[in-house]
Amino acid sequence: MPDLRLSDLLTERLRLRALRPGDAPDLLALYADPEVMRHWIHPPWSLLAQAQAAIDEAQRDLTSGRALHLAIEARLDGRLAGSCALYDIAPEQRRATLGYLLAAPYWGKGMAREALQAMLGHGLGTLGLERIEAEVTPHNVASQSLLARLGFRRERRLPARWHVGGATRDVDLWAFTLACHE
Ligand SMILES: CC(C)(COP(=O)(O)OP(=O)(O)OC[C@H]1O[C@@H](n2cnc3c(N)ncnc32)[C@H](O)[C@@H]1OP(=O)(O)O)[C@@H](O)C(=O)NCCC(=O)NCCS
Repeated sequence: MPDLRLSDLLTERLRLRALRPGDAPDLLALYADPEVMRHWIHPPWSLLAQAQAAIDEAQRDLTSGRALHLAIEARLDGRLAGSCALYDIAPEQRRATLGYLLAAPYWGKGMAREALQAMLGHGLGTLGLERIEAEVTPHNVASQSLLARLGFRRERRLPARWHVGGATRDVDLWAFTLACHE
């Protein structure tokens, strides 16, 4: 099991830190926005209990080494700008999956790239990962542009991969592979 406890990851404008119970109202606001959740793997949340359960799970996953789920905080005012995660961590395979979202007011400012560069650096450096995957719906242009900018490559279409609110969705598998960048 990898030791996922970390000091905060700092970038020019952002602080990536462990989620804490007091984040629940802001996390709910983020995951309740239909625009943010348009291409997500589950429907928007509507209850504070959903945010609280996610934070509890993030804390358990941190202890078990299964996932590293971080708050993305704006350093300017300390507000929750988004969240990102390395989940399905398979240390023996040196592989994990990346997830991320930002609140709409933060879009288009290079902030996701800034946050994920730090997260990737941590995953590839401290955690010793060699392959980081991401699953993205084909219509999520912003997310695909972001991944391409970070050096991910689209590998293949996974048909009927997600079931979201009664609909079936195809998903594209993207991956950053260390071997391709050495
Ligand atoms: C995907 C998301 C995190 C991107 O965040 P962002 O902060 O706007 O992205 P950035 O500003 O860092 O942009 C990164 C790159 O993607 C490009 N990009 C961002 N949004 C874009 C859009 N709507 N259309 C085309 N390109 C876009 C940027 O131009 C930039 O490329 P560049 O550096 O070459 O200029 C954000 O749109 C979001 O939270 N969406 C909702 C949640 C979601 O779908 N998460 C991903 C699930 S797989």
